[in-house]
Amino acid sequence: GSTLQDAAAETGRYYGTAIAASRMNDQQYMNIANTEFNMITAENEMKMDAMQPQRGNFNWASGDRIVDWALQNGKQVRGHALAWHSQQPGWMQSMEGSSLRTAMLDHVTQVATYYRGKIHSWDVVNEAFADGSSGARRDSNLQRTGNDWIEAAFRAARAADPQAKLCYNDYNIDNWNHAKTRAVHAMVADFKSRGVPIDCVGLQAHFNSGNPVPSDYHVTIQNFADLGVDVQITELDIEGSGTSQAEQFRGVHQACMSVARCTGISVWGVRDTDSWRAQGTPLLFDGNGGKKAAYHAVLEQL
Ligand code: XIL
Repeated sequence: GSTLQDAAAETGRYYGTAIAASRMNDQQYMNIANTEFNMITAENEMKMDAMQPQRGNFNWASGDRIVDWALQNGKQVRGHALAWHSQQPGWMQSMEGSSLRTAMLDHVTQVATYYRGKIHSWDVVNEAFADGSSGARRDSNLQRTGNDWIEAAFRAARAADPQAKLCYNDYNIDNWNHAKTRAVHAMVADFKSRGVPIDCVGLQAHFNSGNPVPSDYHVTIQNFADLGVDVQITELDIEGSGTSQAEQFRGVHQACMSVARCTGISVWGVRDTDSWRAQGTPLLFDGNGGKKAAYHAVLEQL
């Protein structure tokens, strides 16, 4: 294939990017997005604060702009994200206990129902585990409603959209020799053994010099896949430049391609200048829309 999406499709995989609604009038940006990618994630527009700014008052416009463009152009959509401790609307941030639990589940149900039939995979729960060596859940208002909040969210999502794949998504779960990775793995194993509906694990894959691509990345991906879930690289970006950045991108793709159930890769933005970490120039296209060394390494590896 001569584009990322065509090359990925040769092995039945997808190749995706995150899109920001605010950039959709940039012709160069949209041309690259349309040519290279066939899986679209809304960078911010389908998060809890964007979807339900006031309680019971949903704002679908920006999410729809991205979803409609994707579907009209023959692409699929990763829904991101139904339940998360971050980017909650103000009204939810101050809630707790059973009323928060009810509001969270209602949000999951309403958003998943609204987009039913349009979503390939939902990030049902995002970033629920703590960093560091504890292997514990992250403390958050959602966690404080009870340890079963994650499975409750997955059950609500399945009921609302039975066709969508339901994913757990997190960062720093790339190293197999890391407590957070093992803890997420144990949760997924537990869900599978008890019939809690979960179909996929998303590895965000935000890398930089202090957090490089692990050399045994394929081991982590395989170990998740062995639980009977698909694995997707969901928010890939790698700070750096030139050959060393290109080789790290190559390593991520080598790892995914070596595992049959690693079904797709998404980068977290189009050009370096579009990135949430723009100063780290972490993406495949430079600020002028030019293909970087990392792009060529990825295309070669797919
Ligand atoms: C980031 C967006 O890229 C930024 O525009 C926003 O200000 C903050 O969120 N993990 C996630 C993504 O799951 O939703 C985050 O996206 C990056 C880290």
